[in-house]
Amino acid sequence: MLLWINGNARADVAVGRLPPTIEGHAYFIIAESLTNVFKHANANTAQVRAAVVGGALRLEMRDDGIGGARIEGSSGLVGLDDRAASLRGRLSVSRPPGGGTQISATLPLPTDN
Ligand SMILES: Nc1ncnc2c1ncn2[C@@H]1O[C@H](COP(=O)(O)OP(=O)(O)OP(=O)(O)O)[C@@H](O)[C@H]1O
Ligand SMILES: [Mg+2]
Repeated sequence: MLLWINGNARADVAVGRLPPTIEGHAYFIIAESLTNVFKHANANTAQVRAAVVGGALRLEMRDDGIGGARIEGSSGLVGLDDRAASLRGRLSVSRPPGGGTQISATLPLPTDN
């Protein structure tokens, strides 16, 4: 699925339905990351990618703004880090080549055994 929002935000989501807990955490991670783009990044574009890779949901939210995101001090990104950890996953913030901000999250999917 590919969505364009206002011409400047793109979502590339190649996953079907997942367990409700995973979907709920993924929703908040994507929503807070995009809210941060609008609040802080001064970006021209934002992109969301979601895919299931190796038994985990991988999320990437990337913008081409000013950079400088950090997991500390406020509730937003700290909360996302806690959400990922609660699922035994992880969340990271990086500055990709060329600038901007990338938030990456890996949320392991539950196994049946
Ligand atoms: N996409 C981004 N581009 C540039 N800076 C960012 C971005 N995301 C976050 N930041 C910076 O990282 C800080 C921490 O983000 P965080 O979401 O934790 O806090 P917040 O958005 O300021 O507050 P809250 O989420 O609690 O409303 C922000 O204050 C901002 O300075
Ligand atoms: Mg925030």
